[in-house]
Amino acid sequence: MRIIERVSEMQQQAEAWRHVGRRIALVPTMGYLHQGHLTLMREARNHGDEIVVSIFVNPTQFGPGEDFERYPRDMDRDRHLAEGAGVGVVFAPSVAEMYPDGYQTFVEVMEVTRPLCGQSRPTHFRGVTTVVAKLFNIVKPHAAVFGEKDFQQLAVIHRMARDLNMDVQVIGHPIVREEDGLAMSSRNAYLTGDQRAAALRLSRALDEAESMALGGETRGAVILEVVREQLGSNGEVRIDYAELRDPETLKSVDEMKGPTLLALAAFVGRTRLIDNRVLRCRAR
Ligand code: PAJ
Repeated sequence: MRIIERVSEMQQQAEAWRHVGRRIALVPTMGYLHQGHLTLMREARNHGDEIVVSIFVNPTQFGPGEDFERYPRDMDRDRHLAEGAGVGVVFAPSVAEMYPDGYQTFVEVMEVTRPLCGQSRPTHFRGVTTVVAKLFNIVKPHAAVFGEKDFQQLAVIHRMARDLNMDVQVIGHPIVREEDGLAMSSRNAYLTGDQRAAALRLSRALDEAESMALGGETRGAVILEVVREQLGSNGEVRIDYAELRDPETLKSVDEMKGPTLLALAAFVGRTRLIDNRVLRCRAR
């Protein structure tokens, strides 16, 4: 497996592959890899001959006072994990390589970035779309795989690719969970034992809402009340948002008429965790 740190070298490699008809599949990450990331890499093998994983903790998607500096990093471990998952190239540029002096261009998607995480992290998605657009220009993938764990991010990237005519197939992959239900995340490394236990309330709240919806409950307010109760806003857990939204447009839903996204974000201690599920209504 090769590690490439330079943009120009990555672009030359991508061009060489394309020249001989190889399909390129990209999995963008911020590293500190876990089974969720590795599952995306295995999925990528179904969509390309050459698998590239990018590892870049992208400063432009972190707001002031967020965890950019302390975000967990372990390149040696990541390199071995990626190699084991059949990755051919890890693209791991420095911040100066991606954002050299004089950098001043950003990609901004409008409506779909405004609610949910966009509400509490107003500059976040602008950073995500900018770095993903750059990665598409550098790695030149035919396909790129993203996790549904970041459901809104996936919707935003779909929108960007469509709106800017990017010739990349954007593929979503279901959330990978720990055995007890906690959605895998690099940020889980921040949790203490007690916080780890409290964090389980997110997936439990999703389970509860799912049973309600399958049981015939369609009133958003009723479902969300139970979700908020299950999350509890005491001590360790502070709810950032708990909302029902249309899975395509992310518009707010009061009454479930079809598959509906339940999206959650909560602070457990200082750590902000997100989770979601698309709830189905009982067949009528
Ligand atoms: P990161 O949080 O490292 O996640 C990289 C990819 O892995 C994303 O597509 C994310 O949705 C997916 N992922 C994370 N946890 C997952 C889980 N438990 N199950 C399934 N997929 C999971 O998301 C980012 O990085 C960045 O915003 C990035 C897209 C790389 C741009 O900087």
